[in-house]
Amino acid sequence: MKQVIISGASAGIGAATAAGFLAAGWAVTNLSRRPCPVAGATSIACDFSDPQAVQRACDDLLGVVAEANPLVLVHNASLLRNDRADATADADFREVLQINLAAPNALNAALLPAMKPGSAVIYVGSTLSEKAVPNSYSYVTTKHATIGMMRATCQDLAGRGIHTACICPGFTDTEMLRSHIGTDPETEQAVASMSAFGRLITPEEIAEAIIWAALHPVINGAVLHANLGQLER
Ligand SMILES: NC(=O)c1ccc[n+]([C@@H]2O[C@H](COP(=O)([O-])OP(=O)(O)OC[C@H]3O[C@@H](n4cnc5c(N)ncnc54)[C@H](OP(=O)(O)O)[C@@H]3O)[C@@H](O)[C@H]2O)c1
Repeated sequence: MKQVIISGASAGIGAATAAGFLAAGWAVTNLSRRPCPVAGATSIACDFSDPQAVQRACDDLLGVVAEANPLVLVHNASLLRNDRADATADADFREVLQINLAAPNALNAALLPAMKPGSAVIYVGSTLSEKAVPNSYSYVTTKHATIGMMRATCQDLAGRGIHTACICPGFTDTEMLRSHIGTDPETEQAVASMSAFGRLITPEEIAEAIIWAALHPVINGAVLHANLGQLER
């Protein structure tokens, strides 16, 4: 059976990706603290900041992987904090590393060995995977590393018929973005005007790019920016 495992499908881009895969006849398993709101999806409650909880989720997923043919693994959950290179406590930095990098690594270590040819590993990066802005130090650092993890995945899985790619969204209208820009129309317009289309991206648009990437092995190892043409200022 065609199966997809998505981290962070309780909201935003992950939930839209779950809906898209379900509509296309895939079985969907979500990993996050809250359940996936899309009817038909299965959820495993897991807090990525807790390595032991991640390991338990990996154990629970072994049955899914054994039955899946193919399996798509979407590394989507992440933590965005306002922090700085000159003032981030070690413990705070490590928590972001745990959620954004160590948890995907644990999933890779548990699931990749059993994945069959035709499967895919899709990473969700960010515009900030290839550029930096002030006050997003741990996020910028880990999102750059997400591209490295994807490229290394491509190299290490060569010959197995499994492909990988990193989709890098621009400003997408989700909880993560709203927690930073709020709902003030002027602020929203200022953010929207940073794309060549003058609007925010919908989670469904990013989901379509993720699903397309999962189904097209020719893009193995690629970084795909999905940002409506972000304007450089
Ligand atoms: N929105 C944007 O403008 C934008 C731009 C560039 C990149 N992205 C990337 O797109 C991806 C999805 O973000 P989004 O915008 O859809 O954000 P979102 O709506 O806030 O969703 C974030 C998801 O991550 C999960 N998550 C966060 N912390 C977690 C934890 N400790 N343990 C388990 N799951 C956790 C959340 O689930 P629970 O809260 O239920 O645990 C939620 O399902 C992220 O990788 C983000 O960096 C977003």
